[in-house]
Amino acid sequence: MKKTISSCIQVAIDNALSEGEIRRLLETPKTSEHGDLSFPCFALAKIYKENPNLLAKDLTGKLTHEWIDHVEAVGPYVNIFFNKKAISQLIIQAVLHQGENYGQSGSGKGKTIVLDYSSPNIAKPFSMGHLRSTVIGHSLALIAEKHGYDTVKINHLGDWGTQFGKLITAYKHWGSEALIKKEPIKELLQLYVKFHQKAEEHPHLHEEARAWFRKLELDDAEAKQLWSWFRDESLKEFEKTYQLLGVSFDSNYGEAFYNHQMNAVVDTLQQSDLLSTSDGAEIVPLSDENLPPCLIKKSDGATLYTTRDITAAIYRKQTYQFDEALYIVGPEQSIHFQQVKAVLSKMGHSWATHIHHIPFGLYLQEGKKMSTRKGRVILLEEVLQDAIQLASENIEQKNPHLKNKDEVAKAVGVGAIIFHDLKNERMKQIEFSLEDMLTFEGETGPYVQYTQARAQSILHKSQQQTYKIEGLSSEYAWQVAKLLSLYPDKLVLAHEKSAPSIIAKYLISLAQSFNKYYANEKILHKDEHLSSRLGLVKAVTIILTDGLHLLGMKAPQEM
Ligand code: ARG
Repeated sequence: MKKTISSCIQVAIDNALSEGEIRRLLETPKTSEHGDLSFPCFALAKIYKENPNLLAKDLTGKLTHEWIDHVEAVGPYVNIFFNKKAISQLIIQAVLHQGENYGQSGSGKGKTIVLDYSSPNIAKPFSMGHLRSTVIGHSLALIAEKHGYDTVKINHLGDWGTQFGKLITAYKHWGSEALIKKEPIKELLQLYVKFHQKAEEHPHLHEEARAWFRKLELDDAEAKQLWSWFRDESLKEFEKTYQLLGVSFDSNYGEAFYNHQMNAVVDTLQQSDLLSTSDGAEIVPLSDENLPPCLIKKSDGATLYTTRDITAAIYRKQTYQFDEALYIVGPEQSIHFQQVKAVLSKMGHSWATHIHHIPFGLYLQEGKKMSTRKGRVILLEEVLQDAIQLASENIEQKNPHLKNKDEVAKAVGVGAIIFHDLKNERMKQIEFSLEDMLTFEGETGPYVQYTQARAQSILHKSQQQTYKIEGLSSEYAWQVAKLLSLYPDKLVLAHEKSAPSIIAKYLISLAQSFNKYYANEKILHKDEHLSSRLGLVKAVTIILTDGLHLLGMKAPQEM
């Protein structure tokens, strides 16, 4: 649409600017009183050395097209008012015709993106930070797929490190198999806390823990068996949360998976003369990059989180030949990822520039970072269950005869939590509030879901299967149609900026605009525009459903 209008302007200004230049200059006015598109004449004024206001006036007489209703000059701007009927017809037809493919850019065809997200730590509760990583990562994967990319979704579990020495020690002293089987995360967390309490009085426990971790690193059978049991039990517990959230992965290779590939990487670093020794530890100095040195091996020979990430990146490049690799991880790891990239570059891996750390704002509690240690643990699974329960009560009140009640309650409850997270700009910090998360009115996921279901029920009532679209000229219909035409651009932006919030905010506007249309027009009234009005409703259901899916949410047909 913009392209056609730009070409039309190009002719009117005798090719003084190219079609592409004009398209970039075209603005979408904030209010519809200023038209649907606005062309500022400053660039033109420079070329012609003329007053922009005069040029704008002059242009109004020259712009004609079947899609343009009229044109007004306001100061240096040419405000273009579309022929609502002709354009809404085009938009609605395009959405109905392309269905869920509407907005697919194909820009990712033949390319692969690896996404590393969620990645909770074994034996620790799934934190709100991990929730953010999970829902943002999942949505970014879906958006990339929409653009045609192949994706590889990786859950880089935190399943290695000295804490496992502590856990094994604690288990040997005070653990109970039955309790761990019953509530693995809770019990393992308690053992971990107990270890630290006891170790204050009995420092030799630290010695013991180090010994157990060393055994683990040397493949000792008992240590390995306990470790793998803790891992399995934790994963089973995480799996419940993933099931609720509707999230899945292509790989659950955690940090431990890279253990036996690390010597080769350390050798390469050695051979390329990149390693230095500092206090007995092996490091890669990165002062030329303005970064702290990257610790590769501790003085006791233990490898580290960073070493494992360097190794994992090389493995992923070899295995998946990715074009881009995204790491959806909190902002506190920014230096870590810069170090990983810097070391990879020094090793000669030019693809290190294709690694992107995608940070996000953390949840705060009373303005402070949430911390597991201070007992500020919020169990995500409980939050999700609460939300589902509330959704279920709402259904009992409003629509007790609804079919698939449980399924809908789950879609709405979980949707509320996901949307609450994703509607925030990625870097924004969020004050944790259960109340906010469990609100279903206003700018929330359930509001969008409910609007979608309402639109479905109108279609259902009409019993029409096919739509003959002739375009609509009412202002309310026009606002809805115009929003529909913006969807493809939003999808491009959401991908480029790794910002699901762009889609979430868009869905709110579309839902609000649709609800105005619904409140102000007799959609089902039997006249010659009925089919066009229903066509618009159908188009709205298509886009709301698609947008919700891209956020990782369900769009129930009935609520
Ligand atoms: N387990 C880590 C944490 O909870 C996040 C891992 C992120 N992924 C990575 N490849 N480093 O902080």
